[in-house]
Amino acid sequence: MKALVLAGGTGTRLRPLTHSSAKQLVPIANRPVLFHVLRDVADADIKEVGVVVGGTADEIRAAVAADDSVNLDITYIPQGEPLGLAHAVLTARDFLGDDDFVMYLGDNYLRGGITDLVADFRRARPAAQLLLAREDDPAGFGVAELDAAGRVRGLEEKPAAPKGDHVVVGVYVFTPAVHEAVRAIVPSWRGELEITHALQWLIDQGADVRSTTHAGYWKDTGNVADLLDANRVALESVEPLVAGDVDAATELVGRVRIAAGAVVRGSRIVGPVVVGADTVITGCRVGPYTAIAERCHVEDSEIESSIVLPGSSITGVGRIEASLIGRHVEVTPAAPATHRLVLGDHCKVQLSP
Ligand code: DAU
Repeated sequence: MKALVLAGGTGTRLRPLTHSSAKQLVPIANRPVLFHVLRDVADADIKEVGVVVGGTADEIRAAVAADDSVNLDITYIPQGEPLGLAHAVLTARDFLGDDDFVMYLGDNYLRGGITDLVADFRRARPAAQLLLAREDDPAGFGVAELDAAGRVRGLEEKPAAPKGDHVVVGVYVFTPAVHEAVRAIVPSWRGELEITHALQWLIDQGADVRSTTHAGYWKDTGNVADLLDANRVALESVEPLVAGDVDAATELVGRVRIAAGAVVRGSRIVGPVVVGADTVITGCRVGPYTAIAERCHVEDSEIESSIVLPGSSITGVGRIEASLIGRHVEVTPAAPATHRLVLGDHCKVQLSP
């Protein structure tokens, strides 16, 4: 069995972060979402992985090459335009050959991995096996209609009136039967070849399409609120470790991970919190639910429930919460009762009056 990981597309809902960089590389608990995906693939004993890439291909290749935590045989598959999930399957035809494969969307974060899904598929080898989850608000997802035995009877992509609360999580297992299906469909109203439509085509042809319901946590990390939520959940299982230099005037409470090369002085850090390599924190209150990446500088400030990307600095600004701060950002105080802002396109800022 092979895996096809989708890391192309554009991340419009994570702008401005994703104007120039890949949404699949935004970190959750200081690890890019894509690395969590590759870990799940490796844990399911799959070695041969195709990674579909678009305009951010160079950045994705460089990040994966620099990470030695998973040992996979990766082939990069360029997709000229993000024309849909089924288009990505069409594009990967040569790589996939006639093997069964897991397709995993590179911006999905799952707790509990994909081994149950793969085991269910192997037991009966249906044409496709989908991972589903129950959602209170299913309209923003693919929605599946099931029969009593858990077979998928119908699928709709982002329906206005969902027929149930089982939504399609971004992990699917396919036999080569999917190749005829992705060739048979036409673009949807959003101009994409939808994998949901290819699956519906298979069902209409009488193919066996089954489902596994994911019991654990999952998030499509496509927007800031969901990303912060996934960060919160991932931090809850980080192994505590103090490899950096923490002085006696600092108090560490709960699940805190300080990477080698980080320096913490005169601060209170309330876990779960991760602090990346070569970051310096002085006179701060940090946490809970906060991930500060590598090479940051945080001084005389408070930060909670937030993600800070590499190379950023935050100095003397009071309290920050529920924030996503990009790479090489500088946050400093202005004169009293004044805000001074240099913001890129599509930024979102909330200021106290
Ligand atoms: O997250 C689960 C949902 O994912 C499902 O419930 C939907 O049925 C499914 O269509 C998909 O919906 P999204 O609209 O969230 O998909 P998105 O455009 O965000 O793309 C998902 C991933 O695939 C993302 O990492 C980008 C990548 N991608 C996307 C497209 C359209 C590609 O690599 N190539 C593409 O052409």
